[in-house]
Amino acid sequence: MTLGLTNCRILNKGKLVSADVLIEEGKIKKIGTFSAADRVIDCKNSILLPGLIDSHVHMREPGFDYKEGFVTGSNAALKGGVTTFLDMPNTKPPTVTVAALEEKRILAKKCAVNYGFYFGTSVTNIEEIKKAKNIAAVKMYLNETTGNMKTDNVDVLKAVINYSRLTAFHAEGKTVQTVLDVYHKYRHNGNKLYFCHIARKIEIDALKKSDAYVEVAPHHLFLTENDVKRLKGFGSMKPPLAKKSDQAALWDGIKRGIVDTIATDHAPHTIEEKKSSVPPYGVPGIETMLPLLLDAAHTQKLTLTDIQRLCCENPAQIFRMKGKGHIAVGYDADLTLIDPKKKTRISNETIVSKCGWSPWHGKVLKGSVEMTIVNGMIGYKEGQFFKTQGREVMFE
Ligand code: DOR
Ligand code: ZN
Ligand code: ZN
Repeated sequence: MTLGLTNCRILNKGKLVSADVLIEEGKIKKIGTFSAADRVIDCKNSILLPGLIDSHVHMREPGFDYKEGFVTGSNAALKGGVTTFLDMPNTKPPTVTVAALEEKRILAKKCAVNYGFYFGTSVTNIEEIKKAKNIAAVKMYLNETTGNMKTDNVDVLKAVINYSRLTAFHAEGKTVQTVLDVYHKYRHNGNKLYFCHIARKIEIDALKKSDAYVEVAPHHLFLTENDVKRLKGFGSMKPPLAKKSDQAALWDGIKRGIVDTIATDHAPHTIEEKKSSVPPYGVPGIETMLPLLLDAAHTQKLTLTDIQRLCCENPAQIFRMKGKGHIAVGYDADLTLIDPKKKTRISNETIVSKCGWSPWHGKVLKGSVEMTIVNGMIGYKEGQFFKTQGREVMFE
């Protein structure tokens, strides 16, 4: 079975060039004109990106599947042009043992897009960390947030950064510098750090001279503390929405190459939970990130090349994902077709995520996801969903 895409435009060294793409057995077989395919789709000059890689999501399985699940969450990913996601360990049970990881692996087989897993820390699980196979990174929570996984023990921190080739952190404010200090003093090898959802200027300032990777989330790029009044519990997240000056520092960090990835921190909670007197931290984002970024590209806050680097190429490289992140012969046929001019209206009524709401409800954005292809299979096209089968990512 071959699939041919004609009249696409793809990014080449910052310029859009016309191309046809031939897909065979889930891989990109040819870029350039091809003679025949079992199915041909005319892309009518829309722009083809590598499928987006969302390196930070909470799909909530097992344990919290009343909020989200691998089926609903991966369908939301399809709608958002995301073909691969990395799932966080704050589930029930938490992913801090090999047994819990294997249980999650079985559950994730239902995914419509590709997936990988983070492995969490506890004070006592360093041996489990050593046994865990094919994980994206070890995730360490140094602040209180959803899931009670805080392990702010310096000995664990030292052990993890020395053992794990990549450690991802939930670290807010001054804690970022604390981690960097421990890393610089006690790390004995080439292992790297990845700071999740960097939200404030002081964090950017601490990170700008370091070689640690920096992730930012759409909610911190497109919302500020001024929105909390309107959003109430729906605007509650960790790290919290910050000041306009913090937001400006994130955009500046994108411009100056300090920021390495944009990832959603897709963290769905039910409407009832968010309306309660103690709303849990977190907002959904996997189906709205790309339209928000395309809209920002129109106002020159970033370029399409930036989006491709931050949401496709860099995550593939940082997490060493085999066959992902590029439109190139031999790579996996994970592809996202976008129309930069077509409008997207975000509405709670059309949210695919099980939570059924978005902090951007009512927004009309310039830019839309037209089609999402996973492993050579069309999963989403112009509002309709089709059956695809996601696979676990292989980390090199
Ligand atoms: O807002 C957040 N929600 N921040 C986190 O660190 C966790 C996440 C969740 O799991 O709900
Ligand atoms: Zn976090
Ligand atoms: Zn998170």
